[in-house]
Amino acid sequence: MADNYSGIEPSPALEIDEIEKRRDEFRSIGVDAIEHGRVGAVLLAGGMGTRLGFEAPKGTYDIGLNRHLSIFECLMNNLKKVTDEVGRTVPLYIMTSDKNDEATRAFFAEHSYFGYPESDIRFFLQDMAEAVDFDGNVLYEAPGKPATSPNGNGGWYHSMKSAGLDSDLKIRGVQWLNVFAVDNVLQQIADPVFVGATIATGSACGSKVVAKTSPGERVGLLCMRDGHPDIVEYYEIDEKTAAERDESGKLKYRYGVILNYLFNVDMLEDIVSEKLPVHKVEKKIPYINEKGELIKPTEPNGYKFELLILDMIKLMDSTLAFEVVREKEFAPVKNLHGVDSVDSARELLIKNGVEL
Ligand code: UTP
Repeated sequence: MADNYSGIEPSPALEIDEIEKRRDEFRSIGVDAIEHGRVGAVLLAGGMGTRLGFEAPKGTYDIGLNRHLSIFECLMNNLKKVTDEVGRTVPLYIMTSDKNDEATRAFFAEHSYFGYPESDIRFFLQDMAEAVDFDGNVLYEAPGKPATSPNGNGGWYHSMKSAGLDSDLKIRGVQWLNVFAVDNVLQQIADPVFVGATIATGSACGSKVVAKTSPGERVGLLCMRDGHPDIVEYYEIDEKTAAERDESGKLKYRYGVILNYLFNVDMLEDIVSEKLPVHKVEKKIPYINEKGELIKPTEPNGYKFELLILDMIKLMDSTLAFEVVREKEFAPVKNLHGVDSVDSARELLIKNGVEL
């Protein structure tokens, strides 16, 4: 295995106890930033969600049991909780892809933007990339049409700029963007305490993290590399290093990222033309065979090429690791059943008092 984790050190973090002690201080700084229109949010909803095996956009998945409750509605409720409390909305930019843009926009319109002002919601398209089979041959999704898929979540700011939304940020005076994944139904958006802590510590970026439950848990790890924050993917670190413990008996590398970041917009402008590494990811890619039939594989059959948001962290001057309570903020929906699934997310929603 390529050694992608050489030179890593554990990352310091603002831990839950410390955050609790300074909660009021952080919260008032965060509320002030929101009140002055300095905070925006970016929902990354361009992914294909292949593991869930749901054809429509993942955000439209109905996680309700006795009533309809889409993932999008859950997220909008979480956002509205903050904006209602503060008394000011934040602009929400939603990244889609060619594959799900129309359906996503239609869903928001059908649901009257979930009670959020339509003028505060802007959609933008991400770029696409071609996919190949395991031997490197181009796969076709229709005769003469190479199979394409969204190019990962790392190009989001570049795509925002291509859509001209950087001027929207300027006009509105947005200085901080809270970027989050579509598939964590407990995602806390524009969290004033997180915003305040990032600003108060003079950080260019903040990353919410949870303490890993076991060495093998599949989350990216926030670490220090050559004295600078960086994220190492779970599959890039060897078992022995992942299991190392510190003097207190806690995992030495324990801070897992949950795809909830706060980026300083000026800093994003500085790094937008930097090249991010391209990751080769095994995925199930629909393709046409020699007979012209469309095949929808049940197992990965090729590679997609993706840019990842986690690679932006090493380009930031500084990143604050901000620890959150896992049971309150992390309920990823990756699969239908089992780990990180619809089932586990429903359990956590119920525990947090959300009626399903
Ligand atoms: P995932 O890494 O879970 O990828 O996305 P995915 O493509 O949605 O799902 P699988 O792996 O095929 O099952 C994490 C977040 O990044 C967004 C997703 O929508 C999700 O919010 N994302 C991912 C994009 O916006 N664009 C992409 O190209 C990939």
